[in-house]
Amino acid sequence: MVDAELDLLVLGSGVAGLSAAVRAADTHKMRVGVLTKGELPQATTRWAQGGVAAVLGGDPDSTDLHLADTLKAGAGLCDAEAVRVLVDEGPARVNDLITLGAIFDRDSRGELELAREGGHTLARIVHAGGSATGAEVERALVEAVQLTAAALHEHAFALELIVEAGRCRGVTALFPDGTIQEVRARNVLVTTGGAGQLYAVTTNPLEATGDGIAMALRAGVAVADIEFIQFHPTALSVDSMPRPLLTEALRGHGALLRDTNGERFVDELQPRDVVSRAETWRMQELGTDHVFLDATGLEDFDQRFPNIAAELTRAGLDPAKDWLPVAPAAHYTCGGIVTDLQGASSLPGLWAAGEASCSGVHGANRLASNSLLEGMVFGPRAVEAIEAGVSGPEASGAMRTVLGMDPDRPDTVPAGVIGGRFVHLDPVEADPSLLPEDPAKARLVLQRELTDNAGVLRDAARLDAAAVVVAAALAAPRADTVADYELRNLATVGRAVVDAARRREESRGAHTRDDFPATDPAQAHRTVFV
Ligand code: SIN
Repeated sequence: MVDAELDLLVLGSGVAGLSAAVRAADTHKMRVGVLTKGELPQATTRWAQGGVAAVLGGDPDSTDLHLADTLKAGAGLCDAEAVRVLVDEGPARVNDLITLGAIFDRDSRGELELAREGGHTLARIVHAGGSATGAEVERALVEAVQLTAAALHEHAFALELIVEAGRCRGVTALFPDGTIQEVRARNVLVTTGGAGQLYAVTTNPLEATGDGIAMALRAGVAVADIEFIQFHPTALSVDSMPRPLLTEALRGHGALLRDTNGERFVDELQPRDVVSRAETWRMQELGTDHVFLDATGLEDFDQRFPNIAAELTRAGLDPAKDWLPVAPAAHYTCGGIVTDLQGASSLPGLWAAGEASCSGVHGANRLASNSLLEGMVFGPRAVEAIEAGVSGPEASGAMRTVLGMDPDRPDTVPAGVIGGRFVHLDPVEADPSLLPEDPAKARLVLQRELTDNAGVLRDAARLDAAAVVVAAALAAPRADTVADYELRNLATVGRAVVDAARRREESRGAHTRDDFPATDPAQAHRTVFV
């Protein structure tokens, strides 16, 4: 075992995990450990561009409007209580970050600059470095954590939860010297992010392999809404992976989407699911693999979006003259480990926040720039609950679907609660020889399969085909290497994505079925793996 028992072990080093670690160590003097498979700054957070949605301007904006926009984007599956917490506490958490040293962009009067993005009725996105917001948030948090955490384990890969007497007591982890050791803690907070690497075309870094969600699924911890994988409509269509993101703020500033004939085909400020779907349909119609983002009318592009300008120069594109080829790319895992409003999972001692969690704030489709916000709100909430001595989940937020219902009688849904369909992941027949033995090559096959058959557009036949490949990836023989463990985690989460997508015979938010194009009010429930 490494270290003495910690008060809190944080898995992952993005905005949710590090905001929690700082709150726990700095404010409450807890013994905190952070364990991450890369280096501390190497989290998906640092790739976030647009910013943080929070009502920091005055009238006519309000948290009620932010709440309404979030609920609308979430297509009937947001938990309104959870969204209320998000929008109400968000502004204070942004101010905490400013106090910690994060520098957000300001106008000539010193006021925070606010941008608009898809699905928002008003400009309310604060940003840093133009569109390098994640990098600035990560920088400020890493510096603070390095000063306060009791233990930092970098390049350590969490393998399994340790569960004793019905409570999570830490994890086993693969350390850089090749040993597998226990890291024990009274509480474990999973903030390991999403599983964008399930797809061949993604904006997510190589590390986004759904590790925490997979561990939770293997331990029987409730996971929900996992079929809702959000595709970002404007990833630059060049041959690099991850795909460079062209922030939604470009459309907020007036950039237009055009098909390869130059025609506009969608309202650019609709939520992402609507825009990505429209693009995919138009690309199918015209037989192309991209559409164009026309930012030629934007003034001061280089000053306002310096990191994107640099990326475009590398790609040989000039946004003042060229239309930019774009296509949808897997961007965000809307579901994850079910939590209550304090971040408590269904397993006492295990907490989750950020993209690895399903707190109920995103529903079937996350609103733009609500992701950094969720991390900075719900990470610290988990710490406050631990400090207050809370030992297990309560029926609030998305957890109301799990605790507020009788799993044997899912038809009896209490008023105000989103119902659940409770699912067990049973063993499946599989043929591991369908995939190459090399885990890196097997990952590419898995990614291609899910992109083709469980991506923006889905149907029963395609999902059945994806299920066969996912099962083969799950059954693949494994060595004790990070590549093998990542493949197993991707296959575990991929299996849940495909299984939930097959069961959801309707189209809703980020889940579109060609064979069930309508939204079915009778399916306004969560698919919960238990
Ligand atoms: C973007 O800048 O378009 C991405 C921000 C987000 O994922 O919300």
